[in-house]
Amino acid sequence: MKTLAVLHASQLVTLAGPARPRTGVELSELSIIPDGAMLVRDGVIVVKGVSDVIKREMPGDAEVVDATGRVILPGFVDAHTHPVFAGNRVDEFELRAKGATYEEIAASGGGIRSTVRRTGAASEDELLAQAMKHARWFLEGGTTTVEAKSGYGLTVEDELKILRVIRRLNAETSLEFVPTFLGAHAIPDEFRNAPGQYVALVIHKMLPSVVEEQLAESCDIFCERGYFDIADSEKILRAAQESGLRLRMHVDQLTNSGGAFLAARLRAATADHLEQANAAEIAALAEAGVQPVLLPGSVYALGKSRYPRAREMIEAGLAVVIATDFNPGSSPTPSMQMVMSLAATQMKMTPAECVSAATINAAYSLNRGDKIGSLEAGKLGNFTLFHCADYREIAYWFGAPQTHSVYIRGERAYCA
Ligand code: NIG
Ligand code: FE
Repeated sequence: MKTLAVLHASQLVTLAGPARPRTGVELSELSIIPDGAMLVRDGVIVVKGVSDVIKREMPGDAEVVDATGRVILPGFVDAHTHPVFAGNRVDEFELRAKGATYEEIAASGGGIRSTVRRTGAASEDELLAQAMKHARWFLEGGTTTVEAKSGYGLTVEDELKILRVIRRLNAETSLEFVPTFLGAHAIPDEFRNAPGQYVALVIHKMLPSVVEEQLAESCDIFCERGYFDIADSEKILRAAQESGLRLRMHVDQLTNSGGAFLAARLRAATADHLEQANAAEIAALAEAGVQPVLLPGSVYALGKSRYPRAREMIEAGLAVVIATDFNPGSSPTPSMQMVMSLAATQMKMTPAECVSAATINAAYSLNRGDKIGSLEAGKLGNFTLFHCADYREIAYWFGAPQTHSVYIRGERAYCA
């Protein structure tokens, strides 16, 4: 049995606490151990505490990691990403710099559908090669678990191709990827005049194949004007729920179409984006116990100014999550550190709230709160050492990578 002894962290940020998503003041309670240490055996945390005490329990042959002068956090859990696609959208980035909006670019044939065309033309191996580069970026930022959506296929074959790439990412990297089926990401070009037929294809052809091959844990949808309306979203999501999938939803991003009410009615696991959500919707999410996943990287990268109202959500008792929304269009960042910086400066979340939202709450949103998201006995040894002594520095030094090294299941997966 192999034991890893991690000693003398300036702050071991454990997030030990109640075994449920954190709300209200709990978001600020990080259970930090100064001069902290932990023992990890066979990939699982066995004990944590003050270094002097833990050293006494340490077996003589333990492999020691000296964390002097460094903060340790649970590995980030990035609960909303779109990591498998071909190419990039750097041309649209330039057009936006010249004044075009995301909505205008999408209306003229760009946007999601331009990535769909390139992704459809790419082979599974080509997509995997590019996604491996994205996986490396996540790891370098201190992320150890990544929720991963399909959605750039939009045909039965291509959606399955993307989900198989996500499965291969799981096998070929040390990160854990949690797959989500997002066949309803946009209406493909060939169904522009018959969107109902595409909805039927998603329900009757894509969903059964995804479930049959066990390629996804959840189903997502882009509930938005010009994409999927409330009625069609409800049809698709109910079918997914009946097939045993959990629900995550893109709602109220560009316009308010009442998507958050639908998320509440369906008891979705998460309602994501919510830039345009109002007070009544926030109350409905709280009532239904839906977790909001806030994606400030997409607001920033689209050059918009309306960030989701995190303070009101925290006041209302919502178990807030923050994530990157990594994708080639609206949020080309894999960095949870950047997202924490944006959450702090633009959404007025404190650094402690940012940490809870990026770890333990994100873990619960993925149904993994019992395994990851905090550093407690019985959980996986997934953690990151940072080049700083105070956890607040991680979000503060924006643009300066702070990752020193990353461990997954007690094994070193990355070292800067
Ligand atoms: O979460 N809103 C829908 N999906 C992505 C954008 C995808 C794209 O532009 O390629 C998002 O922002
Ligand atoms: Fe997204």
